[in-house]
Amino acid sequence: MGKFYVTTPIYYASGEPHIGHAYTTVLCDFFARFKRMTGHDVFFLTGMDEHGSKIYRVAKEKKMEPQKFVDDIAEVYKNLFKALNITNDDFVRTTEERHKVAVAAFWKRCAERGDIYKKKYTGLYCVGCEAFKKAKDLHQGLCPDHNQKPEELSEENYFFKLNRYQRALEKLFSSTFVVPKDRAREMEAILKEGLEDVSISRHRDALPWGIPVPEDESQIIYVWFDALINYLTAVGFGGEKKSDSEKFKYFWPADVHIVGKEINRFHSLLWPAMLMSAGIDLPKTILVHGWITVNGQKMSKTVGNVIDPFDLVKKYGVEAVRYYMGRELPAQRDGDFSYARFEERYNADLAHGLGNLFFRILTMAEKYKEAVEKYGVFSDGKGLELSHIENYWKRYLEHFENYECSAALDAVWEFISFLDKMINNEKPWELAKSSDIKDAERLAGLLNFFLESCYRISWMIYPFLPETSDKMLVQLGFDAAEERKRNFESIYPKSGRQFLGTIAKISKGEPIFPLYVSDSAQIQINK
Ligand code: MSP
Repeated sequence: MGKFYVTTPIYYASGEPHIGHAYTTVLCDFFARFKRMTGHDVFFLTGMDEHGSKIYRVAKEKKMEPQKFVDDIAEVYKNLFKALNITNDDFVRTTEERHKVAVAAFWKRCAERGDIYKKKYTGLYCVGCEAFKKAKDLHQGLCPDHNQKPEELSEENYFFKLNRYQRALEKLFSSTFVVPKDRAREMEAILKEGLEDVSISRHRDALPWGIPVPEDESQIIYVWFDALINYLTAVGFGGEKKSDSEKFKYFWPADVHIVGKEINRFHSLLWPAMLMSAGIDLPKTILVHGWITVNGQKMSKTVGNVIDPFDLVKKYGVEAVRYYMGRELPAQRDGDFSYARFEERYNADLAHGLGNLFFRILTMAEKYKEAVEKYGVFSDGKGLELSHIENYWKRYLEHFENYECSAALDAVWEFISFLDKMINNEKPWELAKSSDIKDAERLAGLLNFFLESCYRISWMIYPFLPETSDKMLVQLGFDAAEERKRNFESIYPKSGRQFLGTIAKISKGEPIFPLYVSDSAQIQINK
């Protein structure tokens, strides 16, 4: 099936993670798990951006050595990713030796290409963005993203010939390089204004915390130039070992970099230009997602509405948090978080929707298993054809392939309501009362159909809700670890599974999602 290399941005080690950082990482995890499930050799990278003025200043304010400071923050991020069940294959940090080597090697390539030169420059620098700003980018003299007045800098720095790549970049946007389309349009608008060369170093006195320019120790490499190269570092670029170059050859180019909208231009303009300069292939896709607001407002420390992802996991459980992020925060546009909406979604979709359906079906399977044992065939007449299941399955796969994971979840939940309605219409409990053999056969057919549907749903939710998926498989009578080893194609047999052999092993446990009642009290449904 081939390889799949997916990345998150590397997060600034200037503070603790919030729900926005959790979101991008969870989103990447959905794709990583989906691709593994469908037989790909996945490399999923996340990590920390640990250099730059902001981090240096915060560490100094806290009277800490910058390295100790970033080590501590990296631990918090790692713990968060554990709590969120993230399956990253590597965790890269820009203060690591392997990265410093990669950055120096990359710089040299661009320099040899003639794309780096020295120039005196005066400009406005926003430390929050770690970027130079033009007067027109500001609102009433302040950076709109950080509400801060940029600092005026006047220095002699190294510059990168970004302008040289203007034409080549223009061509990029006719393809599907940036997803979704309107994010590509935003980049085209920037290109229309014309790209200027960018400063890619600072004097050591102004920025003591970073990677020195090769052969000019008085200058430190600009934090974005340093940070973007992490995507190469982690797959072996710059490494001396044979295994490094093999890894690089195998995994590069990245299949998708997933980033928030505010850093689109660094990934869709600067990064491809840097790669072209260094003579390295471009990533295949930049997937740009919107921002999470809280009760309709931008998250900010000053407003005091920053949501701590650790708290959410503690309160609702990791599966519910992952579900909300997948379903309610579609990557294509901004999404909103509110506790009320979270609890509404949890109860409607997880406790009632999925949880209730599964509980109902397992209850029937236990009660009427004799019918299946006696008359059990998969398809027994109208409405029980496998094509009903395939229809939802196909849509789910297509959405995933198009990076639309909230739409993939929509397809699963439409399938769930289809099954709910079907149970209500077919009334298996009435068939069970009948002594007519035809009714017993219908009941067996129905149960097989419902169980097959649950089995499929357990796979469909796996990238999002891996623990629930395992629980479902176990309650359906399977060995979850063994099932995970299966070849993906074999999980949807052409003629449907017969639950004849396994029905005796079905054992309904506790409801997979108890109803969420209030802050402290939880009750169980279906008791
Ligand atoms: N260090 C840079 C990225 C370098 S990548 C080579 C950086 N770091 S960051 O810590 O600020 O993280 C930014 C990313 O976190 C965003 O692009 C996005 O993925 C995520 N989010 C931060 N706030 C967010 C929201 N409010 N909503 C959604 N995602 C957000 O930028």
